[in-house]
Parts: sequence; C-alpha cells; structure tokens
Amino acid sequence: MERTFAIIKPDAVAGKKAGQILARIEEAGFTVKGMRLTHLSKAAAEGFYAVHRERPFFGELTDFMSSGPCVLLCLEAPDAIRKWRTLMGATDPAKADAGTLRRDFGTSIGNNATHGSDAPETAAFELGYFFRGMETL
Ligand code: CMP
Repeated sequence: MERTFAIIKPDAVAGKKAGQILARIEEAGFTVKGMRLTHLSKAAAEGFYAVHRERPFFGELTDFMSSGPCVLLCLEAPDAIRKWRTLMGATDPAKADAGTLRRDFGTSIGNNATHGSDAPETAAFELGYFFRGMETL
C-alpha cells in the first residue's frame, strides 16, 4: 500500500465539483485516509509550493490557491502516487487525456481542479505539511 497527497483545488470546490471528484476517487479504488476542507492563507500556499518560488507563475499560483476553500486529502491505494497522477491527467487540462479529472473539471493550467504529489519524498513532505498524525487513519 502507498499513500499520496491530493488537493481538490478552489476552482473545483467553488464549482461544486468536489462531490463528483470524490466519487471518482473512490470508484478508482482509493481509500480516503484523511480529508479536510480549508481555506489556505497566502503564506500557507507559498510554503506548500515553495519548490516553485522562482517560477514566473508563483504569485498567480499562490493567489489562486488562497482564493477560496479547497479539500485536502490523504489517499491510499497500491501505487497511489502514480495512480492518482494518472487519474488527474496532464497539468494542462487541454493536454489531459479523455476521462481524466483535469480534462473533465479543469479550465486552464492554473485552474486545473486537482493537485497530486509527484514522488514518494514529495508525498511525505506534502502529507506532513497539512496533516498531523491524529488527522489521518
Ligand atoms: P500542481 O500540480 O498543483 O503543481 C503546481 C501548479 O502550478 C500546477 O499544478 C499548475 O496548476 C500550476 N502551473 C504550472 N504551470 C503554470 C503556468 N504556466 N501558469 C500558471 N500556473 C501554472
């Protein structure tokens, strides 16, 4: 079993797509081991995406991620990191395969509905950034 960290981003929550996305997550075989609705501060978004701080889109990204509520998730499945990235699809919804979450719910590379960890080390950092031990099962 493996765990990964996921976010249902502010665009999807504002668009009332969180329920549909959670249904797709469960239908794909993940078990939700942690879940919290939150509204990130700009500082919390900047800390989370610190690896991107030199990128030209960092300000836009952290403004967007702190623009409204999002859903934080700890997901478990065999090969969860790769499996969740496959279900999300490519970062840019226009390039994402049919049947993926970003293709179905994203509208631009910034407003792309979901986030997922890209490697085991990233998953450990991201899960630890948002969930204390007692907050995941
Ligand atoms: P995510 O998987 O959350 O990781 C970093 C995010 O930066 C990515 O999804 C995109 O939403 C966002 N991003 C990447 N490239 C750009 C870009 N060129 N303009 C705006 N946002 C971007």
